[in-house]
Amino acid sequence: MEDKLHIVALLGSLRRDSFNRIVLQTATELCPADAYIETVDIGMLPLFNGDFENSMPPEVVNFKTKVASADAILIVTPEYNYSIPGVLKNAIDWCSRPVTENSLDGKPVAIMSASPGMMGGSRAQYHLRQCFVFLNMFPINRPEVIINNVQEKISEGKVNDQPTKDKIVEQLTALITWTRKLKR
Ligand SMILES: Cc1cc2nc3c(=O)[nH]c(=O)nc-3n(C[C@H](O)[C@H](O)[C@H](O)COP(=O)(O)O)c2cc1C
Repeated sequence: MEDKLHIVALLGSLRRDSFNRIVLQTATELCPADAYIETVDIGMLPLFNGDFENSMPPEVVNFKTKVASADAILIVTPEYNYSIPGVLKNAIDWCSRPVTENSLDGKPVAIMSASPGMMGGSRAQYHLRQCFVFLNMFPINRPEVIINNVQEKISEGKVNDQPTKDKIVEQLTALITWTRKLKR
């Protein structure tokens, strides 16, 4: 039996009642038994400042250490103004510096996004994929988890839509398979 994979999740919304938080909670509950998801808080990170690249605040160092220890990364995020929420981009920017200590280097990654709109946050996903090139991350291509009209798929703090739940499990399974492949 192989070791359980450690998936570190980054949540792109700080909102208490965030739809994406509910999606991440559901993913954590539905995660296949050979992996587990640990969500790392990005809301406490200061704004990135290159002056501190080589003397990072302790909370940033702890955050980067946790990310670097992950076997895989899961990003669950809304789309803000057709792009990545600033809070998430800020976390990614800290991870990426200094260039010799990119905590995301070589990591397998999957993205889930949810929005009350028609596009389900897909444009943020494509911008994230662009970042993955420079970060040297390895995203899974499919299945995509793009949850549109999310308010109709959630009740009592849970995703209640079976096709959406199935897609979440399918994607986590693909991420686990991809991660094990890259580890060999
Ligand atoms: C600053 C801002 C920009 C937004 N831009 C978009 C957008 O480009 N596309 C979209 O589908 N929804 C957009 N929305 C709506 C969000 O999808 C919606 O607020 C969603 O509930 C945020 O995710 P959360 O519930 O996880 O916090 C925006 C919301 C905010 C606050």
